[in-house]
Amino acid sequence: MSIILVFLICNYILHYLQVLALECFCSFHCPHGSTNETCNTNYKCFTTLEYLEGTKTKEYRYGCMPPEFEGGIFQCRQKHIQHAVPMVLKCCNDQPRCNENLVLEIPIEEQQRYEEGFNKHHVFQSQQIALVVSVTLSIIFFAMFAAYIYLRYIKLKKQKKSNCDRQVMLPPYEKTENSTCSTGLKSKLAQRSFAREISIVKEVGRGRFSVVYIGLYQDQVLAVKIVDESDEYSWQREQHFYKTGYLCHENILSFIGADIVERNTVARMLITQYHPFGSLCTFLQNHSFDFSIFFRLVYSSVCGIRYLHNPISGSHGKPAIAHRDISSRNILVKDNLQCCISDLALAVEENAGESKLISSKAKLPNPRYMAPEVLENPYYSNQTVSFYQKADMYSFSLVMWEILLRYEIEGVAEPYRLPFQEYVGLNPSINQMTDIINVKKLTPEIPKKYILDQNARNIIKSMKNSMSYSAMSRFSSYRLKKSLNKCMQEKTKLTEIGDTSNNTCSTTVT
Ligand SMILES: Nc1ncnc2c1ncn2[C@@H]1O[C@H](COP(=O)(O)OP(=O)(O)O)[C@@H](O)[C@H]1O
Ligand SMILES: [Mg+2]
Repeated sequence: MSIILVFLICNYILHYLQVLALECFCSFHCPHGSTNETCNTNYKCFTTLEYLEGTKTKEYRYGCMPPEFEGGIFQCRQKHIQHAVPMVLKCCNDQPRCNENLVLEIPIEEQQRYEEGFNKHHVFQSQQIALVVSVTLSIIFFAMFAAYIYLRYIKLKKQKKSNCDRQVMLPPYEKTENSTCSTGLKSKLAQRSFAREISIVKEVGRGRFSVVYIGLYQDQVLAVKIVDESDEYSWQREQHFYKTGYLCHENILSFIGADIVERNTVARMLITQYHPFGSLCTFLQNHSFDFSIFFRLVYSSVCGIRYLHNPISGSHGKPAIAHRDISSRNILVKDNLQCCISDLALAVEENAGESKLISSKAKLPNPRYMAPEVLENPYYSNQTVSFYQKADMYSFSLVMWEILLRYEIEGVAEPYRLPFQEYVGLNPSINQMTDIINVKKLTPEIPKKYILDQNARNIIKSMKNSMSYSAMSRFSSYRLKKSLNKCMQEKTKLTEIGDTSNNTCSTTVT
């Protein structure tokens, strides 16, 4: 019995010593300090096949299985290990490095389960990335678009402001009023409140049909024209042009609003930008000037008339308009010494229907500035717009003459006077004017010193052309503007080369 016991013990010790010496191939699981990819165990070698995390690549790993007390036996009994990432394990101890050539296979269903999950995860991940990228791009695009719209808005606002040359702000309801579709009670009420908020300061001018005052609206200075009670037609007419004619031009008076205030009487108001120098007539009475200001006053007025005359197509376009009452009292002088055309009460427009251009309620223009063809039949109002535009050019030639007299040559200008004042006084009648223009065929006298002046000579040629008795031979506003431009360019060229002796500025336009 004791012999058997000794034998068993010896056998066990021998077996233990043999297994303890088992050498295994190792990779990934090599113990610290091992050499030649070798480890030793007292139990078994093992090999695993598993997916590398986050990929579809399988990889073999090798090592020494720890002894029983570390769970080795339990692990070696499993066919594959339950794990989120599939893995199979095999153990051996039949020879040294027996695990090196073990071939393992992960069960097909495990592989499918893992790879489907992996694909889904990846699709989801790429969807997430696509979503993040597209949301980011959309935000960037939207921000850029918003910035573009905002910058464009600012630019348009600036352009509009500089075009109009307005120093005063439109009250909010005036903007609605200016739009052609606003006819509701609301805007009318708003109009009322606007006028009531303006305090009238003092009178600054009187026309034949109205009185003009300085007004204050929220600390801003405005001109308030109160039209005669009997002359509703002129008030309607003038605001019609400002509102629907798109007359936003630096050489046309800037319109702000129209209003009616009823207290003891009915006051029909036209509110515009205020110009402290007042009318050109007043300015000329008080100032004389050098050539550059002479040119500036003439040229800017022509620009305003040209803008009125010229039809512009498109949604912001305007019809061809004739002023019909051009005079030095209906042209204002701005702070920058440019002129702007005002008083559109008698204006006519192209598309109004030729036979009803002017209502019988309309007043007559100032007889002093009436062209010969208008004087021939001053009460006949069925002419075309182009007929009245030619008449405008005649009237403006008289204004040019008024400006010319105040141009200083060698420091001396002529005293200011109205055209034909020496013949017809201050308030000529139509008959008086017919007599001197159509019967006697007089034109204003041009002092010789201006005809001899190198600078003025060629402008005088243009002026005389516009004074022609025959409407057909007068310059249009377009040709006059062009010819003045050419004169100025040539004068500048000659001044630059220091030669003013042979100024050949021509009045013809090609
Ligand atoms: N915006 C203004 N700024 C300064 N003065 C003005 C303004 N508008 C008109 N005036 C002055 O009032 C006068 C009469 O104005 P106007 O519009 O010609 O009235 P009317 O239609 O009665 O002729 C002008 O000659 C000018 O002296
Ligand atoms: Mg006037």
